[in-house]
Amino acid sequence: MKNYDFDRVPSRKNTDSVKWDYLQRYFGQEDVLPMWVADMDFPSPPAVSQALEERVQHQIYGYTAPPDSLRAAICHWIRRKHDWEVEEEWLILTTGVIPAMSTALHTFTRPGDTILIQPPVYPPFFSLVTKNGRKLVENPLTLQNGSYSMDLEDLAGKVKDVEMLFLCSPHNPVGRIWTREELEQLGELASKEVVVVSDEIWWDLSLGEKHVPFGSLPAHISGNSITCISPSKTFNIPGLKVGAAIIPDHKLRRRFVKELERRCLSGGNIFGFIAAEAAYSEGDEWLYQLKNYLQGNIDFLLNFFTAHLPEIKVIKPQGTFVVWLDFRGLRLTEDELRELILKQARVGLISGLEFGREGAGFQRINIACPREGLKEGLERILEAVKARE
Ligand SMILES: Cc1ncc(COP(=O)(O)O)c(C=O)c1O
Repeated sequence: MKNYDFDRVPSRKNTDSVKWDYLQRYFGQEDVLPMWVADMDFPSPPAVSQALEERVQHQIYGYTAPPDSLRAAICHWIRRKHDWEVEEEWLILTTGVIPAMSTALHTFTRPGDTILIQPPVYPPFFSLVTKNGRKLVENPLTLQNGSYSMDLEDLAGKVKDVEMLFLCSPHNPVGRIWTREELEQLGELASKEVVVVSDEIWWDLSLGEKHVPFGSLPAHISGNSITCISPSKTFNIPGLKVGAAIIPDHKLRRRFVKELERRCLSGGNIFGFIAAEAAYSEGDEWLYQLKNYLQGNIDFLLNFFTAHLPEIKVIKPQGTFVVWLDFRGLRLTEDELRELILKQARVGLISGLEFGREGAGFQRINIACPREGLKEGLERILEAVKARE
């Protein structure tokens, strides 16, 4: 069996990579080690590159429909990995998860309607709502003993007055894999009137706990839901812009498809289709080894902070390749924290405040890089903190 080498990777500089080449634009300086945007510094599975190369050789890239074989590969993957029987006709191919969520928002809500989110959470959850004239209701997660959970009591009070709920499952940035009980409770509280849009882009990257797809819950809970998925995080192909909405209910599905057509957003990218099918058909072993490597990086990070910087608390992730770091123990203002991370450590993390006001004092780090790079980033943080003392 082939051993994939996640320690040696090609440089991503000068490839127009957002993570590596947009440092000046995002951080206002070039000299930072980028550990921010949530993509990986590893090549995709060889089967993906081979399938793309073969298709490139053909030299004709005309209008192309998503092949039935892709739908079959996605359903087969979901059955194998997530124990969920998804019918091919439930799948609507999209150009990603956020486009699918945006389509759901426009299909099932109107300007002035209210959408519930659970901060701290992935920034587009806020902007999708506010930039489209909808109102936000926030049901913040609660942090206890180093782990986040849902505040279901608060949710019960707020969810009655909303039209839609954006669920992040697994949760970015706090790395929770929600339990079946938590999801069922949330689902019971979201009455039939509330459309649950479940962003499960990270679902293949659980590291131990079993991920439960919201759509696989009993129909009285999940009947009014849309599950948004993509191979982009799993196989590191977000630049190929491919994803899917899974909508078991045919009435919801028809409305969603109509909205996609009305906005001229149906169809997709030929290379996205090719890569997704190759990844879902032949990517199992690569993913298995990737997850081992990511777990190794998380363990390395946990040990590093425990040994050298116990005042910075790590929220131990159950999945994803981003880690939520709690710097509040350093007692710095936001400006001082930014100065420490960017100017002194020269590490490009994402400020917790981008994930909502609950993120004050936190930073999110991306650990999907060779261990040497991770070590370098952590050592830079250590040096900067020690220099302040
Ligand atoms: C929770 C979550 N949803 C969606 C996305 C982006 O999805 P897409 O690029 O498919 O629109 C990300 C990327 O980091 C994410 O973390």
